[in-house]
Amino acid sequence: MTLAAFALLTAAVLAWAEPACKVPRAAPTGTAAWTAAHSSAAAAVARMSQQDKINMVTGIGWDKGPCVGNTAAISSINYPQLCLQDGPLGIRFGTGTTAFTPGIQAASTWDVELIRQRGEYLGAEARGCGVHVLLGPVAGALGKIPHGGRNWEGFGVDPYLAGIAMAETTEGIQSAGVQACAKHYIANEQELNRETMSSNVDDRTMHELYLWPFADAVHSNVASVMCSYNKLNGSWACESDKAQNGLLKKELGFQGYIVSDWNAQHTTNGAANNGMDMTMPGSDFNGRNVLWGPQLNTAVNNNQVSRARLDDMAKRILAAWYLLGQNSGYPSINIRANVQGNHKENVRAVARDGIVLLKNDGILPLKKPAKLALVGSAAVVNPQGMNACADKGCNTGALGMGWGSGSVNYPYFVAPYDALRVRAQSDGTTLGLHNSDSTSGVANVVSGADAAIVVITADSGEGYITVEGNVGDRQNLEPWHNGNQLVQAVAAANKNTIVVVHSVGPIILETILATPGVRAVVWAGLPSQENGNALVDVLYGLVSPSGKLVYTIAKKAEDYGTAVARGDDNFREGLYVDYRHFDNAKIEPRFEFGFGLSYTNFTYSALQTTTTATITPGPAGGPTIPGGPSDLWDTVATVTATITNTGAVAGAEVAQLYLSLPPSAPPSPPRQLRGFAKLKLEPGASGTATFKLRRRDLSYWDTGRQQWVVPSGVFGVSVGASSRDVRLEGSLQV
Ligand SMILES: *[C@@H]1O[C@H](CO)[C@@H](O)[C@H](O)[C@H]1NC(C)=O
Ligand SMILES: *[C@@H]1O[C@H](CO)[C@@H](O)[C@H](O)[C@H]1NC(C)=O
Repeated sequence: MTLAAFALLTAAVLAWAEPACKVPRAAPTGTAAWTAAHSSAAAAVARMSQQDKINMVTGIGWDKGPCVGNTAAISSINYPQLCLQDGPLGIRFGTGTTAFTPGIQAASTWDVELIRQRGEYLGAEARGCGVHVLLGPVAGALGKIPHGGRNWEGFGVDPYLAGIAMAETTEGIQSAGVQACAKHYIANEQELNRETMSSNVDDRTMHELYLWPFADAVHSNVASVMCSYNKLNGSWACESDKAQNGLLKKELGFQGYIVSDWNAQHTTNGAANNGMDMTMPGSDFNGRNVLWGPQLNTAVNNNQVSRARLDDMAKRILAAWYLLGQNSGYPSINIRANVQGNHKENVRAVARDGIVLLKNDGILPLKKPAKLALVGSAAVVNPQGMNACADKGCNTGALGMGWGSGSVNYPYFVAPYDALRVRAQSDGTTLGLHNSDSTSGVANVVSGADAAIVVITADSGEGYITVEGNVGDRQNLEPWHNGNQLVQAVAAANKNTIVVVHSVGPIILETILATPGVRAVVWAGLPSQENGNALVDVLYGLVSPSGKLVYTIAKKAEDYGTAVARGDDNFREGLYVDYRHFDNAKIEPRFEFGFGLSYTNFTYSALQTTTTATITPGPAGGPTIPGGPSDLWDTVATVTATITNTGAVAGAEVAQLYLSLPPSAPPSPPRQLRGFAKLKLEPGASGTATFKLRRRDLSYWDTGRQQWVVPSGVFGVSVGASSRDVRLEGSLQV
């Protein structure tokens, strides 16, 4: 392609985007809206019988209604049969719905506009299907264990980035009048023994890592929170007074309701008296064991659970319903409605802009090759059919998402081969295909081609399905299906090898990077239904790759310092998770958190820091609004930097700000992400990255005072292209 044609195409692709910098928007505080919703709810509760209230808080049983969770209608107050449906990337079991990109891919774009739009479209589809409560977004698992089976459902391992994504997604979903559900609360970091193990997390780590993104969701007025399967300090999460009443309802001022994960309730009174508000699905999966319903009625009559507590549960559920305006004109339930609209455009944009270029010696972008070869079972759609495996419980054919309840049906699926074939035809390129992972015969297909593209994968999911020996969590961080050997066989026969990785999380790339002939590594993540289109957009330079890693890729698995726990997990690593650990322990990663290459180059200049008068040391102390003390959310400093595209093509840069706390703070990770901005820049153009620092961004959790405290002294400010590629350094005096 000529440069002029390239520029035209790039301009067309960029046209939809807003120019200049993007900073996370401030959420509305929502206090007034909740107050109004709670007063409507109180009036309705006054008209309800005790049985009505019991019905409102108890699911009607597994597999008894149109949705994965259902409660009975309450005619006296015109309350409908409530529909709760998985999940975080679309409408589970839908047949006319979009398979949105997983959370991990959305986070990899670092693009708040795309993340927001994804949330809005998720909400629009849920509403179109009459779903009242969409069971997402996910901030737990956060992903402290790289093997963790469900990490891909969330937004990566940094709480600040996950928090911004939780806020944008919650607000997006709820802008359509649909209740979002922040899950799984909390410290639900692995699948092994998830229903029996205890996560024992110290107070500071709980606040600064695991609670942090939930606080963002609460600040964005999330309607509901799902308590998780695991125990916390030996108490079931759905019976933890500390987690539910202490942290969520009191400290964060959460006004909505807590719903159990499916069958995560264990006792009638323990759940009721420790803060859980709704049980789902209302029985165990055999439809037998019922813990609320008639049992809760008896407990209330015997004063084991107070009438006030039952009223509070009903009031919280109703308040969420009123808050979202679901009391008027809500569509009736039809999970099979066709509600896709133009939403695939968001899928393609997120799939594409979440691609991270890890290595490129100049072979990319492709320029009308005469002959190309494509290799791997993941190059083509699953031969049994794109939705052949229930809940995506197989890794056969091209990979678009992990497996489990957080998966959905694909309405269509564009595999790498499908998209490359179209492009090859228009360029007059001969395209060879070896659609298996067997090394035998692969040399014949790839030798003589201008480039050979090998697609490899790694998959994981929820522990109720075992795939190729992986019981949810991954057994190791190696590519599946002997991916290393496949790459070696291809590169032995073709010295222009491009490796494409579709993966739920990090894999160890050392063997591949040491293989002569591997000229590029394209980390394509989990692109859902637009898998091939997104890949072709990047391989051919229709856009410059602009994703950045949302986790570290280590040189070896042991370097992470965390592993799936065989019994309880004492979270001994504390705050030192992912890059916080690599930085602190001075371990060289292969590719650090925040890393990603482009087809162009960016320079950073003119760091400026301005502070406001409210930047005082000491604890936050404002009145509690949703999310915690109000002043925690105030902007206290603004940092700006100029980013210039000095290369030859248009591109986008994710500028990242990391803070180092002053010595007066307790020992802390050397650098923590506290800001980012994605700038789309034409060649030669400059833009301003603006980072707004809130009081919470400068605070640590003081376990003695039980408050967020801004330490006094000099904060280190690092702005750069990754967590290690620091381009500008400054400071901030408090
Ligand atoms: C768990 O125990 C630790 C140590 O006593 C405590 O700091 C923390 O708040 C407890 N968390 C929960 C959820 O009970
Ligand atoms: C980017 O900079 C590197 C060196 O810093 C140089 O080798 C490369 O050619 C530049 N790329 C572009 C697209 O300008």
